[in-house]
Amino acid sequence: MTKNNIKILAIESSCDETAAAVVENGRKVLSNVISSQIAIHTVYGGVVPEIASRKHLENIDEVIGQALEQAHCTWDDIDAIAVTYGPGLVGALLVGVAQAKALAYALNKPLIGVHHIEGHIAANYISNPEWEPPFLCLIVSGGHTHLAVIKDYGENWIVGHTRDDAAGEAFDKVARAIGLGYPGGPKVQKAALEGDPAAIHFPRPCIDEEGYDFSFSGLKSAVLNYLNQQEMKGETISRGDVAASFQQAVVEVLTAKTMQAAKEFGFDKVAMAGGVSANQALRDAMIKACEKNQYEFSVPELILCTDNAAMIGSAAYYQYIKGNFADLSLNALPNLPLGSKN
Ligand code: KG4
Ligand code: ZN
Repeated sequence: MTKNNIKILAIESSCDETAAAVVENGRKVLSNVISSQIAIHTVYGGVVPEIASRKHLENIDEVIGQALEQAHCTWDDIDAIAVTYGPGLVGALLVGVAQAKALAYALNKPLIGVHHIEGHIAANYISNPEWEPPFLCLIVSGGHTHLAVIKDYGENWIVGHTRDDAAGEAFDKVARAIGLGYPGGPKVQKAALEGDPAAIHFPRPCIDEEGYDFSFSGLKSAVLNYLNQQEMKGETISRGDVAASFQQAVVEVLTAKTMQAAKEFGFDKVAMAGGVSANQALRDAMIKACEKNQYEFSVPELILCTDNAAMIGSAAYYQYIKGNFADLSLNALPNLPLGSKN
């Protein structure tokens, strides 16, 4: 007899969040525990990999225990153990992978290795239970900026990506330059509320180019140049104006490229994923553009945009039903490319 309700315990430790979740049938979140290390890394102005790994080790047992408890599950209720095995910080990934392997072995349960970005995409399946492939997805995180065609669950075709910095990386670097610190994205968003998005004209890289590649390093340099020039002229800098104008440039490029791609590839379903998709200005602009073009639009709820394990549990379910399991040789792959099959 086949079991109807597949419960997966998922673990995520690729960066600075130690997270565990229990997800049923890929769509229903029974628990979603996230232990953030932000307070620790803020002191250093960014994530310190060595510290991240140590904190994961300290927290992971407790976080997994809480995920089971909050889901009102025992280990007997769990059908498989899933874990992010890449990309990410190698030492951080290794903690989750070792834990998942030990649990799968000790409990004699199937092991599922999940690509971190597949997880971000799958967050849409949780927030919008009716949402199904195929669709076009803009993936914007701290390490990735991709436009991808999601052909089926776990089957992606990359149509464009960043040539240099990721969108989130640009937010983080600009935040540092204007003295807002870490984590940059939410702080730039907040500062932008006090500023005028039209105050300073920063470039919109790649917006008029053919193809779907992005480039954010030049935009970051334009912000740095502006700050230097103002300083040399002895003029005061409005943090709000810089934040709002920079954010506006990023939002315009991301939205325009996504709409161009949807048109060219004939998609009427567009989604967004990754930490930067938590940005309110980007969410508003994408909603507006999709409405104008009559595209259906999906974006995960805020807590599922940034790193979490529920999204890993969702992606893992679709691997589970395909029988795509890992064995105990599963290793952490810091540069695991998107689109590859594990
Ligand atoms: O997906 P994520 O949590 O981790 C990675 O996989 O990288 O993304 C983190 C990135 C960081 O660069 C962070 O500054 C950015 O997402 N981010 C935001 C916002 N919230 C997080 N960027 C802009 N606006 C936000 N509200
Ligand atoms: Zn992420």
